[in-house]
Amino acid sequence: MTLLSIQPGIMGISPYVAGESEIKGVKQVIKLSSNEGALGPSPDAIKAYKNVSHSLHLYPDGNCTELRKAIAKTFSLDIERIICSSGSDEIISLLCQAFAGPGDEVLHTEHGFLMYPISAKACGATPVSAFEVSLTANVDSLLESVTNKTRILFIANPNNPTGTYLPISELQRLRERLRDDILMVIDSAYAEYVSEHDYSAGAAMVEERENVVMTRTFSKIFGLGGIRLGWAYMPPKIIDIMHRIRNPFNVSAAAQAAGTGAVLDLAFTKKAQQHNLKWLSWTREQVKELGLSAPNSVGNFLLLCFDNMPRQTSELADLFLKNEGIIVRGMDNYGLPQSLRITIGTELEMRTVIECLKRFLAQNM
Ligand SMILES: Cc1ncc(COP(=O)(O)O)c(C=O)c1O
Repeated sequence: MTLLSIQPGIMGISPYVAGESEIKGVKQVIKLSSNEGALGPSPDAIKAYKNVSHSLHLYPDGNCTELRKAIAKTFSLDIERIICSSGSDEIISLLCQAFAGPGDEVLHTEHGFLMYPISAKACGATPVSAFEVSLTANVDSLLESVTNKTRILFIANPNNPTGTYLPISELQRLRERLRDDILMVIDSAYAEYVSEHDYSAGAAMVEERENVVMTRTFSKIFGLGGIRLGWAYMPPKIIDIMHRIRNPFNVSAAAQAAGTGAVLDLAFTKKAQQHNLKWLSWTREQVKELGLSAPNSVGNFLLLCFDNMPRQTSELADLFLKNEGIIVRGMDNYGLPQSLRITIGTELEMRTVIECLKRFLAQNM
């Protein structure tokens, strides 16, 4: 091993494993492993991206002014509280760097997004997981898991990979009972897909409190995962801290242009929302008819649970789908080895995956 001294926590990290995108020997795969937007990027985003190609020699605007203006306009938010990043992963990591270190705890839910424990460990802090009830975050369990060492609480709402969510009343209850010296991070990566009336992405809570942050992404409904673009809504004091530690040009000119085009293209976002609602509910019905269970997801993905079937059924199903050119996401890393997560793709992709699952179950049950 190296003689160089490594910062505490780092060697305890299992590197993040991204959704696979290739199958050996298969030219055209159906990729349903990373919750990327089914319709791809908006035509306005593509146009804006192409338009910057002639000025790629210039450094980007380090303040993302036009992009922040566009986000503020679309979501009716205060531009001074908006910060942009290279994916929301970057914000998660910067928050840990700023607010947690050796001896501190970073709290998250049992099946929460894996970047929370990874980012916590990267800065020497200890990740702590709070149990969920019926694959859903539980406010009481989170509160009971708070100790005097807790510095940050991450909650994805809706959660990836379960797709379940907490109503805004529960998030408010959590915030009210949380100590003021704990940062509450509401990760609303899938907010644009949610149509439930008791849901809110959390912006108002950011405006009311000094210890609440909301993170968002362009990688899902806006179909810009490849460009790495995220943003967050934060109290001014936290924004100030982020500006001190982020890279000065953390968002490329291409990402700023494409993001601005995407977030202003409301018609495209609406089309993507409607597409998801239709095919999420269709897929869920089909899955139930196949005898599999799936939590009530409000995101652009569904967690297929093979719980009542012989062990390894999900693994075999994963292999079967791969042989058919379909990539979904195994859930071992999330402590859900009997499950597979599938992204809601195009109509053809959803019909194909369901037809393949039908054949698999007919052969194996
Ligand atoms: C809950 C959640 N938060 C954050 C992210 C990271 O998104 P980004 O591509 O913006 O880094 C993801 C990506 O899958 C996610 O599921």
